[in-house]
Amino acid sequence: MTEYISVAIDDDRAESRNGVIKLHGAEAFAGMRRAGQLAASILDALAPHVVPGVTTQELDEIVYRLTLEGGGVPATLGYRGYTKSCCISINHVVCHGIPSERALKGGDIVNIDVTPIVDGWHGDTSRMYLVGDVPLKARKLVDVTYECLMLGIAQAKPGNRLGDIANAIQQHAEARRYSVVRDFCGHGVGRLFHDSPEVVHAGRPGTGPELKPGMIFTVEPMINTGRPDVKVLDDGWTAVTRDRSLSAQFEHSIGITDSGCEVFTKSPAGLDKPPNA
Ligand code: MF3
Ligand code: CO
Ligand code: CO
Repeated sequence: MTEYISVAIDDDRAESRNGVIKLHGAEAFAGMRRAGQLAASILDALAPHVVPGVTTQELDEIVYRLTLEGGGVPATLGYRGYTKSCCISINHVVCHGIPSERALKGGDIVNIDVTPIVDGWHGDTSRMYLVGDVPLKARKLVDVTYECLMLGIAQAKPGNRLGDIANAIQQHAEARRYSVVRDFCGHGVGRLFHDSPEVVHAGRPGTGPELKPGMIFTVEPMINTGRPDVKVLDDGWTAVTRDRSLSAQFEHSIGITDSGCEVFTKSPAGLDKPPNA
């Protein structure tokens, strides 16, 4: 077993998080590109390992090793008492599933969320993986959730507002009778893991902060087949759907540019969504 080291700072208590939305420069974009590409390459490398029988702890150990080999450290290690290198959320788990001895089985849909810190910059991204043969209903949810992320990102350009991103996501999900989770949001990201603004995934167009070149944040919609309500289990982390309906999530870290946005966490191997979703 690897001996884990704790490096992350509790950014929610850091003085630099003061509600002001930072406008970052070229150096930040270069740093986020490096961290984001390491994050995406870790998710790429996990794909062949996400198979029936593997435990989520084994996957976490791969994330730990690849993060260090890539010159990073996992932001989640030691973050508010969290002791793993990633979050792994299966089926009705909405987010923040803790890697454990639980083995994956055919038919599971699984989100893996990684955040390597490289030279102080946080690359935060997650994807869904399909384990073995997955029923059509679950594959459709995964597909639509990916579409929600990308439709949201398509609204990420100067002059638009955060509500435009939120509305694009909500419209697409609800048109298919899915629901959007309200209890967790995207967030500003950079030298801090969770910075301002809060990036909601449901809302009205033309509302919320205006997007400006230099803003860097995540978009990470969680979409349920049933009701939007979640509860956190006694472990203090694992968030599940209250009605135990299926939940899916994808996350990218992006930066607003003069003409639109740059997606820092795009897959180098083109695996942003599962090939058979
Ligand atoms: N990576 C998650 C996010 O997208 C945060 C995980 S914090 C943890 O913001 F402590 F649960 F790992
Ligand atoms: Co995030
Ligand atoms: Co994340």
